[in-house]
Order: sequence, then C-alpha cells, then structure tokens
Amino acid sequence: MNSSAQIKLWVLQFLLILSFFSAPAISGSRFSDAKRIYMREKVRKMFYHAYENYMAYAFPHDELKPLTNTFTDSLSQLGNLKLEHLPQNYNGSALTLIESLSSLVVLGNNTEFERGVLWLSDNLTFDVDARINLFECNIRVLGGLLSAHILATDSKSRLADGLYNDQLLTLAEDLGQRFLCAFDTPTGLPYAWINLKYGVMENDTTETSTSGCGSLILEMGTLSRLTGDARYEAAALRALRKLWSMRSSLNLLGTTLDVVTGEWIEYSSGIGAGVDSFYEYLIKAYILFGSTELWDMFHSAYLAVQKYFRHGSWYHEADMRTGRATYWQLTSLQAFWPGLQTLVGDISSANSSHREFFHVWEKFGVLPERYLLDRDMLHPTEKYYPLRPELAESTFYLYQATKDPWYMEVGESLVNSLNYYTKVDGGFASIRDVTTMQLEDHQHSFFLSETCKYLYLLYDDTFLADRNIIFTTEGHPLPIRSSWHEKLPETYIPNNWTSLQGENQAIHASAMTQQVCPAIATTARECNSPVFESACHVPDVHSNHRCKRDDECGIDSTTCRQRTCSMAGYCGLWSFII
Ligand SMILES: *[C@@H]1O[C@H](CO)[C@@H](O)[C@H](O)[C@H]1NC(C)=O
Ligand SMILES: *[C@@H]1O[C@H](CO)[C@@H](O)[C@H](O)[C@H]1NC(C)=O
Ligand SMILES: *[C@@H]1O[C@H](CO)[C@@H](O)[C@H](O)[C@H]1NC(C)=O
Ligand SMILES: *[C@@H]1O[C@H](CO)[C@@H](O)[C@H](O)[C@H]1NC(C)=O
Ligand SMILES: *[C@@H]1O[C@H](CO)[C@@H](O)[C@H](O)[C@H]1NC(C)=O
Ligand SMILES: *[C@@H]1O[C@H](CO)[C@@H](O)[C@H](O)[C@H]1NC(C)=O
Repeated sequence: MNSSAQIKLWVLQFLLILSFFSAPAISGSRFSDAKRIYMREKVRKMFYHAYENYMAYAFPHDELKPLTNTFTDSLSQLGNLKLEHLPQNYNGSALTLIESLSSLVVLGNNTEFERGVLWLSDNLTFDVDARINLFECNIRVLGGLLSAHILATDSKSRLADGLYNDQLLTLAEDLGQRFLCAFDTPTGLPYAWINLKYGVMENDTTETSTSGCGSLILEMGTLSRLTGDARYEAAALRALRKLWSMRSSLNLLGTTLDVVTGEWIEYSSGIGAGVDSFYEYLIKAYILFGSTELWDMFHSAYLAVQKYFRHGSWYHEADMRTGRATYWQLTSLQAFWPGLQTLVGDISSANSSHREFFHVWEKFGVLPERYLLDRDMLHPTEKYYPLRPELAESTFYLYQATKDPWYMEVGESLVNSLNYYTKVDGGFASIRDVTTMQLEDHQHSFFLSETCKYLYLLYDDTFLADRNIIFTTEGHPLPIRSSWHEKLPETYIPNNWTSLQGENQAIHASAMTQQVCPAIATTARECNSPVFESACHVPDVHSNHRCKRDDECGIDSTTCRQRTCSMAGYCGLWSFII
C-alpha cells in the first residue's frame, strides 16, 4: 500500500462520527442559507470588533481592557486567584495575538495571519522574569504557537516562500524547554507555577489540579513530534500515568493534589473546574496519537463519570473514595462535556445535557459560573460570565454530528446575547454579575481563540473541509497525521484491508470508528445509517437479551451502568426499578 493511501486509511477523520452525517443538510431546514450567511457575517464582525480593538489599544500586551481602552499584562494572572508574585518588569507576550492566529485562518484572513506570524517571529521572547501557570501557558501560548506554525506551513494557508522559516516552532521549543523544569519532582507531576526565566521558584506551592497536570499531552506531544525531541511528550505522559495511578478503586480522581507527595488534597471532583480538560485530553490524545493506553484510561474514566457524577441530564460532584455526591452544582465549564460526548458518539446523552445547559443560559441571558442545582439558585459569589466558550463549543459539535438546524438557532441566541450584553465600543467585556449584567473591564483571549471560532464554524465550516484535525481545549487546531500514530492498536486493524474500497469506507474503518460504531466489524456501511453507539456500551451476550446469570448482561449504553439478569431471565437495569 502506498503511503498516501495509508494516510487516507489510517487518519482519523476529524469528528469521525460526524463525517457519517456530513451528507447533505436536512431538507426543509428551518435555517435558510441566507440566514446562515447573515449569522456568519455577524460572528465575523464580533471577532474583528474584539481583535481590532485589541490591536489598537492593547497589542503587544496580553489582553484588552475594553471599557477603558487599555491593556493588561495578564499572563502571570491566569489561574492566579490571589494575584501572588506578580512580575515587576513584564510588558506582555502578545497573548491575544497568539490566541487569534488560528481563528484568523478559520475566518480566511491569511494576510492578517501572516502579519501576526511575522511579528511574533521577530519580536516574541520568553526570556522574561514572569511567574506563569504551566497549564494556562501550555494551552494558550504553546498550543497557539504550535497550531499557528502548522497552519503557516499547511498547503492551504502557507506563508509565501522565504518569509517563514519555522520561527514559531523555534519559539515553541524554547518555551517547551522552559516547561521541563516543572516536571523535576519526585512524582513526575509538574509544579503548577514556574518563572519563565528562573524556573521553579523556591518555596512555591506544591499544590496543583488534575487538569493542571493532566492536560499537557496534546501540546507537548505535538512539540515532540514536530521537533523529534521526545522529552516533552515523555514528561507529559509520565505525569498523566502518575495521575491515573492515583485514581480510586472507582476510577475517580480528586480535584487538587500535591506534586511532591503525590497525595490528594481535595477528594471531591466532577467534570468542571479543575478537572474538565483531563478527560478531554485523554480522548483527544488517543485520537491524535492512537495509543490504546490512552483509550483504556479514557474509557474507564468516562464510565466512572457517567456512573458517579451523572444524574439525569445533570452532573454533580462526588467524593472519589466513596462515589457519594458532594456538591450539586452546575459550573459553566461543564458545558464542554456534551461536545466531548459527541466525539465518542454518545449523542443522545450529549443532546439532553446540552439542552439543560442552554435553558440555564436562556434563564439568565448568559451562563453563570456556578449554579446550585439542589437549591435552584445562583452561587452567592460566582455569578460572573467571562465570555466563556463551552456552550458554543458543544453546540458546534452537536450541529456537526446531527446537522439539526436547531443548533444553529441556539448559536443565534448565544450570538445575540453576547452582542446585547457584552459588546461595548472598545471590544467585548466580561460580565461580573449575571443578575445585574454589570460589566468587568476584561476581554479574555479565549473569546477570540474559542468563543468566536466555534460560533463561526457553526455557520461556516469551510476550514474543516479536507483537514483532519482535533481542537485543543483552547480551540487551537492540531492535525491528525498517520505518521504520529507510530503504533496502531492491533485489535482495530481489520482483517482484510483489500476488501475496503473507496475513501468513505476507509474512513469508516478507522480506529475511532471501531469505538463509536462497533457494528463496523461486520460491514462498514452499517454505520451510514444514523446509529449512535455509546462509548461505554457493552452488548448483552444474547441478542434477545435473555440470560441465566448476571455475567451474560452487558453495560447499558445510556447510563453506562452494568445490566443485571432479572428473575424472569432478562438483562436490564433492574436495580433501578426496585
Ligand atoms: C517594560 O516597559 C517599561 C516602560 O516602557 C520599560 O521601562 C521596561 O524596560 C520594559 N521592560 C521590559 C522587560 O521590556
Ligand atoms: C483581515 O484582518 C484585517 C485586520 O483586522 C482587516 O483589516 C482586513 O480587512 C481583514 N481581511 C479580510 C479579507 O477579512
Ligand atoms: C517587531 O516589532 C517592532 C516594534 O514594534 C516592529 O517595528 C517590527 O516591524 C516588528 N517585526 C515584524 C516582522 O513585524
Ligand atoms: C523558603 O522556606 C525556608 C523555610 O521556611 C526559609 O528559610 C527560606 O527563607 C524560604 N526562602 C524564600 C526565598 O522565601
Ligand atoms: C435532542 O433532543 C430533542 C428533544 O428531546 C429531540 O427532539 C431531538 O431529536 C434530539 N436530537 C438528537 C440528535 O438526539
Ligand atoms: C478479502 O476480501 C475480499 C472481498 O471480501 C475477498 O475476495 C478476498 O479473498 C479477501 N482476501 C483475503 C486475503 O482474505
């Protein structure tokens, strides 16, 4: 088989299951083409309003303060709730420009993309005396640079010959090297904070979060693949393995831990703040690098989430040791979960949670940071909405998977709220309190890298055509390359490649498809019909669901709970009915 055919066969199509349905849009759609174009232009204007104000009033500082037309050098403040150890002599790293580059390509503005890439190539340095959060700097800066480097060399958005000599990759490598000192701990779990110039500070905190040490593998793995220097991926993988080894017997993790002792500090966790992207990076790293180890971790972790955190369409938090519910709260970061579920084919569960989260958005006009489900009220202090992207992100994934025009209407509602409540003359401002809609003088860089990008892609996904990509947790696209799947999981290799004809079948026969659509084993075509398979689904032994013993029953696809054999001899979720 020649290598290009191999690429076609092996590359995991971006949002695999989605490609099954990328067939013509539903006829008689309620969302006309004219309206779609109108919405696309509305989102485009939002992005440029945010971007041009940043460039005019804040660049090359980190982020824009849209109410006062000024800037903040916020890289050291990200994740730094108590604003400790702020730098004395730091003038920013053009953070919002770095974050905007991949969005400029998504919007088709290659000229401005080129201008940004060349400015950074010439002017960016990480030799600065600033203490930064490893997780935030990784997803925003390292991810932004790597993605822009790949786009700058991509055949569709490549910079003119001679202008670009991998300067962004050199910068990314320089940053990655500065990261490595954080991993020099007895456990291999990285410190949450490093000084870019001086490394880990003496006596700095040893406390970090699950997402802090479990969401590095996409960027650091990509850096290793691009540079041939294995240290970055090895460090991230070692940390991830250590973290996973700290799970409880229920396959649950806590939220915060100590990187020196390797012990948990906070045993309660959920799918929101402090944990969210850990789950996301397991599945996305599996898609990017094809390692079964990562799939196995994700599969067990996903099952545990569905089993211990889920209650109907909602997710509460639970103690990792007992699985008992702790906090009944909706946090706005949880809204990414339906997007992740869409990636693994759990569409109906994603759809129902997404609807509930959208109802909360409608109730307040935006999504509040924290909502107390048990008391049906807002959290007393966390009433803010900092222009977060998660609901838009899930809406985009669900639209791609289903082509149901209803999701475009959801997008319209999000766009209208953002313009109505958060747009000011100088950009887009965060909301301090959703009950008063009082604004805060801060335009977060993720508004440009994610919120605007996902809303735009909802109405125009030209960027995705013929590209196999996965988005990082900060919305930066990374390519899925067969050459990065150095070891293919043998169980997923179909017995007879020669029987696969044509590209469509080949795509359907990829590794991810096997997971979301086990029916592939018999025929690739079966998955063309809208059959959604859950990631946790294990069928009963007998297709008629008859049984004599519990071990003849599988795992329920919707609840992810073990089915048991009833006295009448049928598999089901009987423990629930009693
Ligand atoms: C930051 O800007 C100030 C004021 O322009 C300047 O005095 C200082 O040297 C700059 N610091 C660095 C590290 O560039
Ligand atoms: C690209 O971005 C620049 C800066 O915002 C803008 O002036 C220009 O009109 C944009 N070009 C296109 C084709 O949208
Ligand atoms: C680097 O920054 C300087 C000062 O802002 C600017 O004059 C120069 O054009 C920049 N380099 C590029 C390639 O844009
Ligand atoms: C670090 O902690 C030790 C012991 O508490 C103390 O003696 C030392 O001065 C601290 N160093 C710094 C730089 O704060
Ligand atoms: C999502 O839920 C709505 C309401 O329950 C239903 O009408 C729709 O068909 C669902 N879509 C999918 C893809 O499950
Ligand atoms: C592969 O499958 C095709 C069609 O099903 C069949 O004709 C062929 O003999 C098979 N080849 C092998 C090596 O099994």
